[in-house]
Amino acid sequence: MYRIAVIPGDGTGPEQVGEALKVVRAAAGVYGFKLETVTFPFGGQHYLNTGEVLPAGAVDELRQFDAILLGAIGHPEVKPGILEQGILLRLRFELDLYVNLRPVKLYPGVETPLKDKGPEDIDLVVVRENTEGLYAGTGGFLRKGTPDEVAVQESINTRQGVERCIRYAFEYCRRRDRRKKLTLCGKTNVLTYAFDLWERVFHEVGREYPDITRDYAHVDATCMWMVKNPEWFDVIVTDNMFGDIITDLGAMIQGGMGIAAGGNINPAGVSMFEPIGGSAPKYAGQNVINPLAAILAAGMMLDHLGEAQAAAGIEQAVMRACRENLKSMAAGRMGYSTSQVGDLVAGYVASGAGPDAG
Ligand code: IPM
Ligand code: MN
Repeated sequence: MYRIAVIPGDGTGPEQVGEALKVVRAAAGVYGFKLETVTFPFGGQHYLNTGEVLPAGAVDELRQFDAILLGAIGHPEVKPGILEQGILLRLRFELDLYVNLRPVKLYPGVETPLKDKGPEDIDLVVVRENTEGLYAGTGGFLRKGTPDEVAVQESINTRQGVERCIRYAFEYCRRRDRRKKLTLCGKTNVLTYAFDLWERVFHEVGREYPDITRDYAHVDATCMWMVKNPEWFDVIVTDNMFGDIITDLGAMIQGGMGIAAGGNINPAGVSMFEPIGGSAPKYAGQNVINPLAAILAAGMMLDHLGEAQAAAGIEQAVMRACRENLKSMAAGRMGYSTSQVGDLVAGYVASGAGPDAG
């Protein structure tokens, strides 16, 4: 029995999460586990209605669950920053979700903008540090609003924070057992303090993993290679800001925000899974948003909970829907409605039918 906290959020978040839960329930029937969900209303609409972003006690309440499934947070009438900092970043920091795990995998049948690249070329995972760096929020203004004003925003990199992220990446790379190559993505030629620390820790920890090949690429070069030769990458580990940027690039080469999922992970506590895309308010309530990202996020959640077979079953079902059904990953162009895509995937999960079974 798993207790799941569900935060559907804003815009198309609730529609996406609804389909993800439909698929998880189908998997529960097939793979023999039970699920109890508790829904939390946090998001832009809740903030506009109540003035409350995350109420006191909410974080401690969320801590009691086995996992959190998040739809999307973001409302056109709420000033940028309030919800991002007040909900998403606060949960990442306070629940110490120190790894943001973002697989970039092109499934057969999904279109990539990269010419001459296919599923055999695009299969990498980004391990993004999720609690430090430029996101730590340190810095400030001097003489704000005057012609002499100064704005400082610092990147915080602690030995412990860097080390636990890098160690997670080595362990993940070993468990994934694919190319067994871990690339540190940094900027050692300019950020000579922050990435000096990252580089030293990378090699220090890496010596404990002789089976993993260590590789390094500057962040700008990483962007170039992700487009030109994505097949060179297996697992990439990087800081919070660079990880944010390269995973949007990653989402595009795997077919777009409609299919990009991620997990905010605390290996020793509760973790939170989410589609990477935003709340897409212009598509809200129309039953046109692609739920596959949320479905895959729910699959990652089950994998994290130890339901590896159920997670694999969900991924296989998504792959089958991509290969046999969906015309496009874009909202309104799938050839199916949001709920029809959920039905399809849930049906494939329930029949236990992987890509080779149909
Ligand atoms: C992401 C998002 C967030 C981030 C925003 C919404 C704060 O872009 O999850 O990648 O920058 O981390
Ligand atoms: Mn982002």
